[in-house]
Amino acid sequence: MTFTTPIPHSDIDLFSDEALRDPYPAYRALRDQGAAVRLDALEAWALPRYESARRALGDWETFSASGVVLNETVAEMVVGTVLTTDPPAHTVLRSVLSERLGPRSVRRLAKEISQRADHLVDEVIDKGGFDAVADLATVFPFSVVFDMIGLPDEARPNILRWADATFTVMGPMNARAAEGMGSIAEMFQWLATLGPTDLKDGSMGRAVFDAADEGRIRPESCVPLLAAYAAAGVDTTITAIANAVHLFATHPDEWDRVCSDPGLIPSALNEVLRYDAPVQVFGRRATRDVEIGDGVTIEEGAQVLVLYGSGNRDERHYPDPDRFDVGRNPADHLSFGYGTHACAGQALAKMEAQSIIGALAKRIHRFHIGTPTRHLNNTVRGLESLPVTAVDLHPGPPQL
Ligand code: HEM
Repeated sequence: MTFTTPIPHSDIDLFSDEALRDPYPAYRALRDQGAAVRLDALEAWALPRYESARRALGDWETFSASGVVLNETVAEMVVGTVLTTDPPAHTVLRSVLSERLGPRSVRRLAKEISQRADHLVDEVIDKGGFDAVADLATVFPFSVVFDMIGLPDEARPNILRWADATFTVMGPMNARAAEGMGSIAEMFQWLATLGPTDLKDGSMGRAVFDAADEGRIRPESCVPLLAAYAAAGVDTTITAIANAVHLFATHPDEWDRVCSDPGLIPSALNEVLRYDAPVQVFGRRATRDVEIGDGVTIEEGAQVLVLYGSGNRDERHYPDPDRFDVGRNPADHLSFGYGTHACAGQALAKMEAQSIIGALAKRIHRFHIGTPTRHLNNTVRGLESLPVTAVDLHPGPPQL
């Protein structure tokens, strides 16, 4: 007699408004079902546990990045981008800009970024009340990434909408993704009009065109590379900073720990990123039959969903995962991905977010907040607005 393992499956729609508002109960249910769970509606596999998600990210030969996008229309549009390409082609695309974003290059920006952070925090404090998304979290990554890429100023009013659309169309083609398609077409059309001289001298954008001139990448890779960097560096970091303010406002004891020991800031940021992953899900495509978990086989060609946000709350990996604890230092969280496609901009993102947290910790003792509004996007979990109605400052001169 042969026994076959029953396939765990679920009819949960991870992209419904309800699940996007609070995906964590659904994630827990999926994790409890298994390391890989068949999602009936999407005809795809979810990897909800830390180990299974990390395993897929670490094995590009079995879990190809050609499946990053969860719908075919957009997947075809983004063939050949850094995010959707496997080695060896990926290695070349990534090398064009990763050096500019590596820890050594980013360290050179440290002083300027920290001064800009102090200045911005002084400004919002002077306002009295402010919106932590629009007035604080958005201003900073937007200006840093925009300047680094060296895009012409005419793009400024559109970048945030384009970046938001880029992330939402990477999900399944639901109404939300369909709505984002107009912005994507507009973004690609505009990027296609750019030539090397439109990008500021010495910028990362100019470096992309230089690489094409030198024959390191094909000319048609320029636009997708620019799009990847412009979109990837904005929404994600905005989300991380806004989530940080929200978590510190709602966990005042944890904020006290950060204020009294700024050495905890890197650990606190790791915990912010673990607790609410800015990118909740991206896909992969199985290149062969592969067994995951207890005898469950994901079949060759299957669409796979890597649930970063669920892996980060896996009780099998992080004890008491729903507790926000700034001393936990979960440096192995999945929020920057892992393996070949691990975030190319993480050194910059960390520097930006840590500088803002540091600047806030020097001055603010307590945040008083109104009701936050969630922004619904298929892959990024962020806030639309977070009203900070008042702040209490530390007594005496700013803390060092
Ligand atoms: C807190 C902020 C950020 C988060 C949470 C984040 C998250 C991620 C994640 C999860 C991936 C992996 C995708 C995968 O597994 O397929 C990724 C890749 C990437 N990120 Fe970030 N990111 C952030 C900031 C940035 C910044 C500031 C930049 C650039 C200015 C950037 C550029 C990129 C690029 C180019 C890739 C593609 C890397 C590749 O495919 O090899 N990211 N990011």
